[in-house]
Amino acid sequence: MKKRIAVFASGTGTNFVAIAKACADGRIPAEVALMVCDKPGAAVIDRAREFGVACFVFAPKSYASKADYEAEIVKLLDDRKIDLVCLAGYMRIVGETLLKAYEGKIINIHPSLLPSFKGAHAVEDAVAYGVKVYGITIHWVNADLDGGRIIAQRAFPYEGSDPAEVHRIGQRIEHELYVETINKLLCEL
Ligand code: GAR
Repeated sequence: MKKRIAVFASGTGTNFVAIAKACADGRIPAEVALMVCDKPGAAVIDRAREFGVACFVFAPKSYASKADYEAEIVKLLDDRKIDLVCLAGYMRIVGETLLKAYEGKIINIHPSLLPSFKGAHAVEDAVAYGVKVYGITIHWVNADLDGGRIIAQRAFPYEGSDPAEVHRIGQRIEHELYVETINKLLCEL
């Protein structure tokens, strides 16, 4: 039976689209069975609908706690028998409730060569620091922010000082690397 992926995102969803396309055309032998988004109105929601992917969109502020909304997410993941959770620009720290249920099945893509430049402004921080080699990291998610075991990394040189350009170059690499890595992990599951 095909493996089942959930993608979590908060924004534009270019990584979501790369993953959904690869599933649709067989480069990833899996189905995107759920998209979870914490930002009502985010562009990724329309992308998910275009691919016919079920969405759970929630406003964290309308829940009493992180444990409350994560409990709802865990139920959805369980119901849909999700094998792998891929965070793709999900700008929220994963809490205990979700980790307790799914640690070892959650991966994240981050726009820096970890352990350098953790956090929400990795590219801007790297440009401000003046680095000359940038990169993308895919890692397992644990309780440490951007701190889980590294699965894959890809570096690229950039000598300029425009964060938007670094994002553009980096995102092309992200889309390839995420598809390759998900594919490899699913073969090992
Ligand atoms: C990606 O570049 C991803 O690496 C980054 O958010 C972007 C989402 O883009 N994630 C982080 O910064 C996590 N700390 P997308 O919505 O177009 O896929």
